[in-house]
Amino acid sequence: MKTHVPFFDLAVQFKSIEEEVKSALDEVFRTQQFILGSNVQALEETIARYCATRSAIGVASGSDALLLSLMALGIGSGDEVLLPPFTFFATAGSVSRLGAIPVFVDIDPETYNIDPSGIEERISSKTKAIIPVHLFGQCADMDPLLKVAKGRKLFVIEDAAQALGAEYRPIAGEEGRRAGQMGDLGCFSFYPTKNLGAFGDAGMVVTDNPELSEKVRLLRAHGSQPKYFHKWIGINSRLDTVQAAILLVKFKYLEKWTGERQRKAERYRLLFQDLLSSVDGIRLPTVQYQNRHIFHQYVIRVRERDRLRKSLAEGGIGTDIYYPLPLHLQECYASLGYRRGDLSNSEKASEEVLALPIYPELTEDQQIAVVDRIKAFYRK
Ligand SMILES: Cc1ncc(COP(=O)(O)O)c(C=O)c1O
Repeated sequence: MKTHVPFFDLAVQFKSIEEEVKSALDEVFRTQQFILGSNVQALEETIARYCATRSAIGVASGSDALLLSLMALGIGSGDEVLLPPFTFFATAGSVSRLGAIPVFVDIDPETYNIDPSGIEERISSKTKAIIPVHLFGQCADMDPLLKVAKGRKLFVIEDAAQALGAEYRPIAGEEGRRAGQMGDLGCFSFYPTKNLGAFGDAGMVVTDNPELSEKVRLLRAHGSQPKYFHKWIGINSRLDTVQAAILLVKFKYLEKWTGERQRKAERYRLLFQDLLSSVDGIRLPTVQYQNRHIFHQYVIRVRERDRLRKSLAEGGIGTDIYYPLPLHLQECYASLGYRRGDLSNSEKASEEVLALPIYPELTEDQQIAVVDRIKAFYRK
């Protein structure tokens, strides 16, 4: 009998928290307070504590978290911002929307994150900031990146949209450093399929810097202070109370769900062992820099990716490709003048990566079905 394995299944998780979510929503409906308010404030305090930062500011999406962070740093027309091309579009789009220029730095092929050794040579007199992305739930190699940023007086904005709760190499005798905590500002997304997902769009900026915190707080509400008096030109990007109420319920389970994701990743690793020894060219995710990987995605790498994906789909197994075309080769960035071959690690990754189902509710039978189907593909 065929075991159907959807790439993602939010309905199962909802069932387990349905009553709690409904009662939190009832309370919001009863009070009719829909914009900001105590739920948003409670969520901001919760996320700041979780990320070990002094403050957190709720915004309308992860994309806006990036945009507002760049705005708070005063980044604008003609400024250059370094970032990897192997990421979701918002990382670069937020830069471009402000008239600044994304300058792409290739990735480390093991972690898919920005390769710090490529940063220095891309810095110019116009460079203002670096945006490392903690892709798939694993932190980028931050120590060398932070060193360059400090030496060259560049701001660092962490795109931690996929990495809430991830940690980077501990400093001697201390805990690991949380994603979002290491740069000047950190950006999170609560898009429904993220590890902590809202029932719509939502995001958060975290920072230790009180001035930047205050500025993001004002900018998310048209820069007004007091009301109807505008210190800066901001945008409307407030976090909805309804989303905050749902996220507060779900947050209680985040650590448990993260543990489940890590267990599924370990189970995949074990299930794949005999295939790895018999077939060349299959690569599993690796955990680097003593990181705490939260496995937002479980991404393998194979040469015959598209044929394998088709075979899995025929077997009822959902997969996805993050990302099929690196940003430096996107049509909208043709004017930047990049060519195929310029950032070869990113280009090669985009041809070979395949994200397998991973979510807290994924069962052992489902994981076995995924791996068996992949084994059958290679036996043919
Ligand atoms: C790496 C990365 N950056 C930014 C974003 C943007 O977040 P949102 O979809 O909440 O706008 C996402 C989420 O999709 C992402 O994965």
